[in-house]
Amino acid sequence: MNGIELKSPEEIDKMSRASKIVAEVLEALRGQVKPGVTTEALDQFAEKFIVDRGGVPAFKGYRVRERVYHHALCTSINAAVVHGIPSRQVLKEGDIIGLDLGVIVDGYYGDAAITVPVGAIPISTQRLLAVTEEALYKGIAQAVVGHRISDISHAVQTHAEAAAFSVVTEFVGHGIGRRLHEEPQIPNYGEPGKGPRLKAGMTLAIEPMVNMGRPETRCLEDGWTAVTCDGSLSAHFEHTIAVTDTGPQILTKL
Ligand code: MF3
Ligand code: CO
Repeated sequence: MNGIELKSPEEIDKMSRASKIVAEVLEALRGQVKPGVTTEALDQFAEKFIVDRGGVPAFKGYRVRERVYHHALCTSINAAVVHGIPSRQVLKEGDIIGLDLGVIVDGYYGDAAITVPVGAIPISTQRLLAVTEEALYKGIAQAVVGHRISDISHAVQTHAEAAAFSVVTEFVGHGIGRRLHEEPQIPNYGEPGKGPRLKAGMTLAIEPMVNMGRPETRCLEDGWTAVTCDGSLSAHFEHTIAVTDTGPQILTKL
């Protein structure tokens, strides 16, 4: 661990290739999400798509201490915040599902997530998704040279809380590059003007997780799935970006 690694244009190009695959898979998955589909089918689709384009699924084989994640995709339904495990569970009309995905190309990572509706969803749920995605873009807009990490955090929190939602504090965004998780951590809350100063060449995964109710989460017995303690709905959007002299560059965008 030696602080925040700045990436060269060549390294950012590799991350960009990985991130492009991430964006393409998420877009394709969006079209597959409908009532009757299993999350396992989405995972299998994602893995084949990644491999066919010459990428490596970044989450498969990922370990946190003794626990190994065995899938390419995280599928987090309704009250699941992040890290939902693909299974034979069938999507039904009115659900929301978070799709989170990482890809490696030439040793460099890209990571992004979207939350999408399954068929028709109530207007209040549509608002949760819209506000969470907006919060991501508010955060990204702060990722400019000379700002500090918590300027991103503060922008995310302010936008989510203005809509009377709460931000999850137990999971954070992160630096990314030659590893999925690098320094610095990027909380989705905090006062502005704190933490490391942003420099050109920093590559960050910014990922607001926003709950309709209380912010607290707990982990299910499967060892991975984080759910809201109060059972309220949760949304998650994520992009991998590069801080450049001309502003934030979103790598996981089509
Ligand atoms: N996108 C998640 C993150 O940034 C990674 C998922 S963890 C895994 O923390 F186990 F699913 F790989
Ligand atoms: Co991430």
